[in-house]
Amino acid sequence: MKKATSLSELGFDAGDASSGFFRPVSGDSSTPTSQHHRRRLTKVSVIGAGNVGMAIAQTILTRDLADEIALVDAVPDKLRGEMLDLQHAAAFLPRTRLVSGTDMSVTRGSDLVIVTAGARQIQGETRLDLLQRNVALFRKIVPPLAEQSHDALLLVVSNPVDVLTYVAWKLSGFPASRVIGSGTNLDSSRFRLGRAGVQGVAEMELTEEEAKRLRRSAKTIWENCQLLGL
Ligand SMILES: NC(=O)c1ccc[n+]([C@@H]2O[C@H](COP(=O)([O-])OP(=O)(O)OC[C@H]3O[C@@H](n4cnc5c(N)ncnc54)[C@H](O)[C@@H]3O)[C@@H](O)[C@H]2O)c1
Repeated sequence: MKKATSLSELGFDAGDASSGFFRPVSGDSSTPTSQHHRRRLTKVSVIGAGNVGMAIAQTILTRDLADEIALVDAVPDKLRGEMLDLQHAAAFLPRTRLVSGTDMSVTRGSDLVIVTAGARQIQGETRLDLLQRNVALFRKIVPPLAEQSHDALLLVVSNPVDVLTYVAWKLSGFPASRVIGSGTNLDSSRFRLGRAGVQGVAEMELTEEEAKRLRRSAKTIWENCQLLGL
């Protein structure tokens, strides 16, 4: 098995974004620096060593997708336990450097930063109720992440994912094409997206009713984004 030397090997394929289904993105789609392209090692950082973060880290490790994985969590004991588990598994797997810490400095030079840190949704709480708690958390973690890895792709998993992706975009200062939210059934089209991030927008055919519901959903999400004053 071969190490991934680019994000295209992590599934971020640089397809022909100009063809058919995809409308190319223009404007703020910046490409990584030439220095970044020359570097052959792939580093992925996972922020939040909870259920989702550890599933992601395990998958990257067992599929040998990165040369280095950095794991960050706010709870040191939890992080230590999870790292020990990963290291035990790593003993039987191809060599991947594992680093961890409660400080964002361990993420320095990442190609991809996956944010899974988040307050847990409690019973009876809607995804939008989670928003203010998670926005406060993102204010703490996103600016230092952006500072440590200027050229990275930022992949947001924490919920409510669409609003937090907007928050991460605003707080990171990255071009919109490099801040991606992991939705559900939209993932298959979102991840068609290239090394520099978003290269095109999928144009989907919707019924009148679907379009109406989509607009209503987008309006709700946008109203919540506006309440944040970012
Ligand atoms: N987008 C999707 O499709 C999707 C799917 C599943 C879960 N989620 C969301 O992903 C998030 C994580 O879910 P989970 O089940 O792994 O939750 P979890 O509670 O198991 O893990 C969250 C982790 O974040 C850590 N954390 C909290 N504050 C932090 C900080 N400031 N810095 C670093 N780490 C911090 C916690 O210590 C915890 O380990 C939730 O918001 C959940 O709703 C999204």
